[in-house]
Amino acid sequence: MNTKIIDGLKLSKEIRSNLKIRVDNLCSKNIVPGLAVILVGDNSASQVYVRNKIKACENTGILSIEKKYPENVNETELLKTIEELNKNSKIHGILVQLPLPSHINTYKVIKTIDPKKDVDGFHVINAGLLMIGKPMFLPCTPYGIMKLLESEKINIKGSETVVIGASNIVGKPIAMMLLQKGATVTICNSKTKDLSSHTKKADILIVATGKPNIVEGSMIKTGAILIDVGINRNENNKICGDINFDSTIGIASAITPVPGGVGPMTIAMLLTNTVEAAEKTIV
Ligand code: GUN
Repeated sequence: MNTKIIDGLKLSKEIRSNLKIRVDNLCSKNIVPGLAVILVGDNSASQVYVRNKIKACENTGILSIEKKYPENVNETELLKTIEELNKNSKIHGILVQLPLPSHINTYKVIKTIDPKKDVDGFHVINAGLLMIGKPMFLPCTPYGIMKLLESEKINIKGSETVVIGASNIVGKPIAMMLLQKGATVTICNSKTKDLSSHTKKADILIVATGKPNIVEGSMIKTGAILIDVGINRNENNKICGDINFDSTIGIASAITPVPGGVGPMTIAMLLTNTVEAAEKTIV
């Protein structure tokens, strides 16, 4: 079987170039879309993600401001910043980079963001709206995966779909989106017994665990569509996903590479949500 490598970088560039038109249109109405990014501590992966998000805003004509705090910041200060950003009419989107240090209550921090500015789609209101099939903002990584599946014309309705990972950021929301498109969805987690027995049934397999090589060729069905959300470093310090890529070639019908698959789509959808938040301010 010929395995197609799904080019997320290419699709993300198309989305970003289309967004520029919407940004220009907003600017002609004197609205410059604005995103505030809050980064706490010195987690090196988070620093890279935030830098990439800010750079992408600049390239798309979106105003961005970065608020950086040391690891030992107190929660009250963070909440105060969010409340100020909620009131700032130049800011249409607010993003708090996760994970936060353990002394901070993540739920409380995210809940303080105005749901209309919650471009990450993590607020309990947005999670609830997604659950009942009336989303306002979709979380960026699952939203990007849905766009990839759509652009590859992959049939979701009636498919056996398996999601490995049950996080609020990826696993749970992508399962909900796929369910709403008519997939039969199995969500596996770190306690799942006999992972292979599930993965072998999957027409579409989404892997979001942060564990390199958790899935390999012998665990998948011939013709499966593989979506790899992981961004890890292997023993040679090279970026790799959660799926053992080489072992799936010739068995899967398509796979997203790491890097160049889901990662760039996450950023494209963050920009999309930010532009949409700005457009919604026009009455
Ligand atoms: N940490 C890992 N993924 C994400 C994301 O999509 N948004 C935020 N804010 N933090 C993350």
